[in-house]
Amino acid sequence: MGFPKTRLRRLRRNETLRRMVRETRVSPDDLIMPLFVRPGAGVKSEIVSMPGNYQFSTVTLVEEAKSIEAAGVPAVVLFGIPEKKDALGTEAYADNAIICRAVEGVKKACPSLCVITDVCLCEYTDHGHCGVVKENRDGVPDVDNDATLDLLVKEALAHARAGADMVAPSDMMDGRVGAIRAALDEDGMSDVPIMAYSAKYASAFYGPFRDAAESPPQFGDRASYQMDPPNAREAMREIALDIEEGADIVMVKPALPYLDIIRRAADRFDAPLAAYHVSGEFAAIKAAAANGWIDERRAALEILTAIRRAGADLILTYWAKEAAKWLTERP
Ligand code: PBG
Repeated sequence: MGFPKTRLRRLRRNETLRRMVRETRVSPDDLIMPLFVRPGAGVKSEIVSMPGNYQFSTVTLVEEAKSIEAAGVPAVVLFGIPEKKDALGTEAYADNAIICRAVEGVKKACPSLCVITDVCLCEYTDHGHCGVVKENRDGVPDVDNDATLDLLVKEALAHARAGADMVAPSDMMDGRVGAIRAALDEDGMSDVPIMAYSAKYASAFYGPFRDAAESPPQFGDRASYQMDPPNAREAMREIALDIEEGADIVMVKPALPYLDIIRRAADRFDAPLAAYHVSGEFAAIKAAAANGWIDERRAALEILTAIRRAGADLILTYWAKEAAKWLTERP
């Protein structure tokens, strides 16, 4: 049944036909919007390397959350920037933690918006690493896995007690999903789901986020805890372990350079799969668009479609609010 009987162009002739045979769709329901919150009043300061994204204070954050919900996006993920940083990141799990105040404010104004919190220490530590730094057996400062677990557990509990609908550990310590699950269950919060940053790579694409969250490592890098980019089978082991430890949603991060990992994970696991289209991926398109080199809207929708086509159910993206608007207006 080859040419000329078969003509694949027949079903591409017009937009109606293309709509009918489209294999992959992106809906606002698939999107999660990251937001940054810091102490202060009336703060809305644009992140230079992430145009259209801001650091908010709690009240301005609530306004933004309302408009995100109104655009049809079901969820936000919150990142906190503390007043003061210290070696143990104590403001991550303090009673009056910035994130906890933010969660309370957003939940009050938007009760049906799903409020997810990022659970990690790098925004709160003065050294910028995702855990407790100790000398390792070679005498080199490194993040101590098991000492970090206790702090992550405290942080997740503080977020959940403040009303977070879901917690999302992004630190890449071994065993943190199990530790957080056990602590939530013991604290009467067995119905709070965990979205695990399961296959999170030591990527060059996190730069703009580290500006936004003021969280770059002050020495070294994150290669001893985040995954090595060449590894794919290891990602399957990370995801399998997180599911075993009780993760409800698993994540691959970043997205575009790791579409093969997303596809493998979607084929292998039945848990809902998220992908994080990260700050550097977003900033690159924004910069090209600002120069007139690329059409931002078309590029963004093509990228989001590609991530869904690779097998992701959910996408964390800085385009979430805008994309939800683009997706609901007819071309
Ligand atoms: C915290 C965290 C990071 C990102 C999400 N959670 C930064 C990092 O690991 O350095 C990056 C998100 C982005 O680049 O958009 N550990």
